[in-house]
Amino acid sequence: MKVVIVGQGYVGLPLAMRAVDVGHDVIGFDVDESRVKRLAAGESFVEDISDERLAAAVASGRYRPDTSPAACAGFDMAVITVPTPLRDGVPDLSYIESAARMLATHLRPGATVVLESTTYPGTTEELLAPLLEEGSGLAAGTDFHLGYSPERIDPGNTTWTLENTPKVVSGITSASLAVVQSFYDGIVEATVAVSTPKEAELTKLLENTFRHVNIALVNELAMFGADLGINVREAIDAAATKPFGFLRFVPGPGVGGHCLPIDPSYLSWRVKRSLGQSFRFVELANDVNEHMPDYVVRRLMVALNHRGKAVRGSRILLLGLSYKPNTSDARESPALVVADRLLQLGADLHAVDGHVTEVIDQRIRRTELTREVVEAADAVLVLTDHDDVDYEVVARHAAYVFDARYRIPAAPNVEHL
Ligand SMILES: NC(=O)c1ccc[n+]([C@@H]2O[C@H](COP(=O)([O-])OP(=O)(O)OC[C@H]3O[C@@H](n4cnc5c(N)ncnc54)[C@H](O)[C@@H]3O)[C@@H](O)[C@H]2O)c1
Repeated sequence: MKVVIVGQGYVGLPLAMRAVDVGHDVIGFDVDESRVKRLAAGESFVEDISDERLAAAVASGRYRPDTSPAACAGFDMAVITVPTPLRDGVPDLSYIESAARMLATHLRPGATVVLESTTYPGTTEELLAPLLEEGSGLAAGTDFHLGYSPERIDPGNTTWTLENTPKVVSGITSASLAVVQSFYDGIVEATVAVSTPKEAELTKLLENTFRHVNIALVNELAMFGADLGINVREAIDAAATKPFGFLRFVPGPGVGGHCLPIDPSYLSWRVKRSLGQSFRFVELANDVNEHMPDYVVRRLMVALNHRGKAVRGSRILLLGLSYKPNTSDARESPALVVADRLLQLGADLHAVDGHVTEVIDQRIRRTELTREVVEAADAVLVLTDHDDVDYEVVARHAAYVFDARYRIPAAPNVEHL
C-alpha cells in the first residue's frame, strides 16, 4: 500500500518505520523542512529509532520524508499524527484541520484516513469527516474509509513498544473498521476494536486521565507525608505488594510531556462545552500536579534556610531537565518550571542532562557531573532520574540533596519528596 503518515514526530516516525518494515511504501509528510531534511539524511531525533534503522528505510526507497503535499498523491492509507496542544487552556485542532485539508485534495474513492492524534471524543466524526468531504467531494464511510486509533507510544520504553502494545481501532462504519483493523493487524501484534471513533477517542483520554489523577493522589499524599513525618514512598511500595486492586504510582516534581498535562483538559473541555459541567477529578488533579514544582522549590528554600542560606546567590545543581527518565523530551517538563522559579529567585543555576541537548534557557549553565561540580553546589535537586547519572558521587559529595525521584538512598544530607 502507499501509506502517508502526516507528522513525523515521536508518534509518526516510529509508525512510518514500522510500516516500511511490514512492506508498505511510506511517505513521511511533515511541514517542518529542517526535520524532513534531517530524516532524509538518516538523522533520527527519536531515541527509539536508531540512525541506522532510519537510514536503511531511506535507502530501501520505501520511506520518503517530504514537505510537498504532491508526494501524498494516490495514497491508499493516510494516518494523521500531528500535534494537538492546548492554547490558553482550549484544544487547538488547527494542525489536524490543516492535515485534513491537505489530505482531502488527494483523497480517492476507496482510500482510508485514520486519525491518531490525541483529541476529544467527536473529533473524527464532527471535525475531520466534514473537512475531508468538503475538500474531496467524496462521502465519508461511503466513498472513503475513516477511523480513529489512539497512539500508545511511550518513548524510551523498551519493554512495551509500538509492536507489542495492543492498539485500539475504530471506524465510522463497519467497512471502515474492517479496513483500519486490517491495516493495524499488519503493524502491531494485537488490535482491539471498539464500536465507534468516540469510544476510541475516549479510551486514550481515559488512560491518561487515570494516570494524571493517580499521580495527583500520591503527590498530595507525599506533601502531607512530609509534614506528618511518614515515609509515603515506603507505604506506596508496601501497598504495591497487594497482588490485586492496587496500582503503583509514585510522587514526583509534577507531570510533563505531551500527554498528562494536556490530554485530561481535552476531556474536561468537551464535558464543559457539551454538558456545561465541570470534570472535577481532572480539575483537582491539574491543581495538585501543577502545584508540585512550587512545592519542590519551597522544600528547597526551607532546606537552604536551615543552613543559613537564601536561594538568591546559592549555587544549585539540577539533575535532569526532561519530563521523564532516559528521554530528551523536555516538553512541558516540570523541571523547567522549577528552573524558572529558581532563576526568578536569583539562584545561580547549573544543570546536568546528557539527553536534553537543546538550549532551554541561557541562564541555566549546562555542565557535566563531576565530584567538583557536586561539591561546589549549595544544593543538588534530582528532578529526572536518568540512568546515566552517577548518583553515588552525588550522595557522597553533595552538601545537600533534594531528591524528588527517590533515586538516592536516605542519608543525613539527602531529603526526599
Ligand atoms: N509523544 C508521545 O509520547 C505521544 C503518545 C501518544 C499520543 N501522542 C499524541 O500524538 C500526536 C502527535 O504527537 P507527537 O509527540 O508525535 O508530536 P511531535 O511534535 O513530536 O510531532 C508532530 C509533527 O507533526 C508535524 N506537523 C505539524 N503540523 C503538520 C501538518 N499540518 N502536516 C504535517 N505535519 C505537521 C510537526 O512538524 C511535527 O514534526 C499528539 O496528538 C499527541 O498528543 C503522543
